[in-house]
Amino acid sequence: MPPSVTSAKDSAPGQATFRFRCIGCGSVNATAAQDFRCSDCGNLLEITDSSWNSRNPTALKTLWRERRILNEAIDLSGVWRFREFLPAPQSEQEIVTLREGNTPLYDLPQSSRVTGVPRLYAKHQGLNPTGSFKDAGMTVAATFARQAGYRWVACASTGNTSASMAAYAARGGMRSLVLVPEGKISWSKLSQALDYGALTCQLRTDFDGCLRLLQELVRQAPVYQLNSINPFRLEGQKTLAFELLEQLDWEPPDHIIVPGGNLGNSSAIGKALLEMRDVGLIPRLPKLSVIQAEGANALVRTVRETQGKRLVSMQPETRATAIRIGNPASWEKVVKVLQATGGACEQVSELEIAQAKAEIGAEGIGCEPASAVTLAGLKKLLQQGFVKPQETVVLVLTGSLLKDPDYTMEFHRGDLFKGTPLEQESAKLNSFRHPPVVLDATLDAVIKTLELAEKSDPARSNE
Ligand code: F0G
Repeated sequence: MPPSVTSAKDSAPGQATFRFRCIGCGSVNATAAQDFRCSDCGNLLEITDSSWNSRNPTALKTLWRERRILNEAIDLSGVWRFREFLPAPQSEQEIVTLREGNTPLYDLPQSSRVTGVPRLYAKHQGLNPTGSFKDAGMTVAATFARQAGYRWVACASTGNTSASMAAYAARGGMRSLVLVPEGKISWSKLSQALDYGALTCQLRTDFDGCLRLLQELVRQAPVYQLNSINPFRLEGQKTLAFELLEQLDWEPPDHIIVPGGNLGNSSAIGKALLEMRDVGLIPRLPKLSVIQAEGANALVRTVRETQGKRLVSMQPETRATAIRIGNPASWEKVVKVLQATGGACEQVSELEIAQAKAEIGAEGIGCEPASAVTLAGLKKLLQQGFVKPQETVVLVLTGSLLKDPDYTMEFHRGDLFKGTPLEQESAKLNSFRHPPVVLDATLDAVIKTLELAEKSDPARSNE
């Protein structure tokens, strides 16, 4: 029998006070089964800890700031720095970390001008060690996997989870099994898993098919699943919100806008916001809004067609492959977050995503397509009057520009929508394209090209 995952039972006395709580029936347990589902009703679990509510918020803010100058691995991690709100491992020396977190909060001057929102920021999770937000959750879940004595960890992925898991498994001395949809993830992400030594299986199905198979696998084999169904992952991902609020001197923004795929990240951020509010770290809740691609809009349809009561799953299709998911696991958690924070749920088109990605690139920041749905979504929420120009808005950029170079190259070369029904309409994005120019290696050729560029786009040089 594979080991079960334990909180208090195996832990040093007085250390692990966390429990697993079912989000459906509310039952609370010290242990969780391999599939991280409630043994009574089958719903997802979340981690709770009664000690979190008894903390002094002022003392916490000071403590977290002081840790920023310390050199212990646990303090250098932008995740474990906030460990008062994380499940405690048996020993702090045992954490598996790559110094994740500590990601910048950028202003976006050009996008501010375009959208008319002066206080617009991007929390760039793509600057994590493996280039995506997954690292924040993986450090916590990999730590508990190793503590529970697992030799193998596994995930289904659209690419980023697998890259992150493979890295943390390698770091923690564990082996990793990756299940990805064949042909539907970027080479850049796949190559990370290979380099970090994962056993990588490209399955002839989509992400949802991979996840279904993984769920069956963990019931039969002693592998520890590291998808965001694993509540330890979401605990780590919570720290994005703690770090963000610290960067804003604990003044909550009016809106936080997140891309939605399997819906783990939005659940985690929402959980963090509620916990911060409950303990008095922030005086009010930002509205957390989730944006999906039109072709992978299960949450949008669930909210619109059933008022969030029943999941409307679908066959997903989008070039933002990270969020090409039709049957999101954490939909119920997110519906609760949308309700609790008063956030919205919106969808954006492939052209809107491509334009927003180019605009974020033009800020000198860049991101992968799935992250760009946030800026595209903001424009829609502004049009609808849900976001007001004078409000403070934070976009969560989830992955690095380098995660999907094919998309970027195809966009700038003008090939992204070639042969698709969007080909003609995509011409309106031509002004955002910066294709490479092939020239003879002469000074004259380069100077002529320079002059042409200056003439065709004089505004850029005056900025
Ligand atoms: N952005 C990026 C870059 C992602 O990789 C993902 C999910 C999301 C957004 C959506 O986050 O699933 O928590 O709602 N990627 C997963 C993966 C599914 O396997 O890498 P979510």
